Amino acid sequence: MSPGTRTPLIAGNWKMYKTVAEAEEFIQALLPRVSTADGVDVAICPPYLCLPAMLDSTRGSRVEVYAQNMHYAEAGAFTGEVSAQMLLEVGVHGVLLGHSERREYFGESDRALQLKVPVALDAGLRPILCVGETEEERERGDTERKLRHQVQEDLAKVPVDRLGDVVIAYEPIWAIGTGQVATPDQAQEAIAFVRALVADRSREEAERTRVLYGGSVKPENASELMALPDVDGALVGGASLDAESFAAIVAAAR
Ligand code: 13P
Repeated sequence: MSPGTRTPLIAGNWKMYKTVAEAEEFIQALLPRVSTADGVDVAICPPYLCLPAMLDSTRGSRVEVYAQNMHYAEAGAFTGEVSAQMLLEVGVHGVLLGHSERREYFGESDRALQLKVPVALDAGLRPILCVGETEEERERGDTERKLRHQVQEDLAKVPVDRLGDVVIAYEPIWAIGTGQVATPDQAQEAIAFVRALVADRSREEAERTRVLYGGSVKPENASELMALPDVDGALVGGASLDAESFAAIVAAAR
């Protein structure tokens, strides 16, 4: 499979932004702006409480709705958590896993992610696994070591023939919310490395695997990033909160 056959994915991670009313306003503005974006998959990842409303409002459109996190257990005494079954019941299409903010502020571990990724796949949810290095790790020359550790650990329990169903988002932590986007060379190099890590287990699956770039993606820099040979789309934070700028990034991926 050549890079051209991987459909790009533009996903908007809203983090802890937008009430249901604000989400409705956003989606009504977004839908007409992305209705002709053929050849691009589009997803929004709103807060849990907005999921049912966003699923209703996007029905019949090209926009899919993902959660921002999920527990690995089917059910249990895990106060404040949400299971794959609960997400599926309301019709959610996929789930972000291992975002750096979850790793940093909520103690999300590679051990937990190793369980979460196959649980999501088995449930029929499309996982987007987030990986990336800190500024300090990059400066020390440890970027590849960090990526190798995260990709190998977090995908360890995914059967080889399902690897290509996992979307991986490379998000250098120093580029998140800082306006300091990775250079095209930095993004291409890290993302090609991530793909090579998947290829260590299966070359064929690595060709299927979509690897996204995330970190200060804006309408102004999206075209250049999306044109890179190994970049299969973007995970967008701040710029996904505004319908016009998110739609412009979707257009850049066509
Ligand atoms: P920004 O686009 O705001 O830098 O956020 C990136 C991100 O964390 C998406 O998950």
